[in-house]
Amino acid sequence: MRLYVNVDHVATIREARKTDEPDPVEAADACLRGGADGITVHLREDRRHIQDRDVQRLATHLAKPLNLELAAAGGLLPIALGLRPHQATLVPEHRQEITTEGGLDLGEPGSAAHGRLREVIGRLRDAGIRISLFIDPDPVGIDRSAELGVPAIELHTGEYANTCRRSASALERLQKAATQARALGLAVHAGHGLTYTNVMAVAAIPEVEELNIGHSIVSRSVLVGIEQAVRDMRRLIDSSR
Ligand code: PXP
Repeated sequence: MRLYVNVDHVATIREARKTDEPDPVEAADACLRGGADGITVHLREDRRHIQDRDVQRLATHLAKPLNLELAAAGGLLPIALGLRPHQATLVPEHRQEITTEGGLDLGEPGSAAHGRLREVIGRLRDAGIRISLFIDPDPVGIDRSAELGVPAIELHTGEYANTCRRSASALERLQKAATQARALGLAVHAGHGLTYTNVMAVAAIPEVEELNIGHSIVSRSVLVGIEQAVRDMRRLIDSSR
């Protein structure tokens, strides 16, 4: 099982002050030292966290694969084509959302949305970039993804994350979706809302080969790291007097 760590929220902290720390590239290196197999970032149209220069530096600097999440619209395609990350995950994007809500709308075959998606997929594929579609664990979406000829899908685990304490049905949907996708020859990734308490059931689905996890890892890193950070500051202050 590959673990890709999403470092968007390292940039969220930096952007809160529009300064240069914490650096998501430094954080990415630390993630790889900690055992991550790759790094994920979402370059949003509103640039609320990750900036173009972050993706540029990650694309040239990382010792392991970069998975760039991007919306098919919004002028981001030329950036992906220019940087050629190992993988591009196409995600939906709505300006007002706090985080990615729901999977990609693949559109009815023959519709304008479907045609646009097909074109974006073709251009990414021609550039040698592996493509994954972030979709809900829904049988129609999985069939359509296979028809679009992509090598991989990422199953949206948000509903599972929100309901797993009171119901097993979202997990069952994920399991069925993973089986269906694998039978159609799709590589199965999963992510969104996974935490230290809910990840294990998803990691146990045999068909899932890659997890994308961000917020929970960044959150925990604050708590496991803040004691040392205070100690370092304490030492500096005390040694100045
Ligand atoms: N996968 C996709 C496609 C996402 O958009 C996100 C959030 O940016 C994640 C995974 C990671 O979600 P979380 O930050 O909740 O772990």
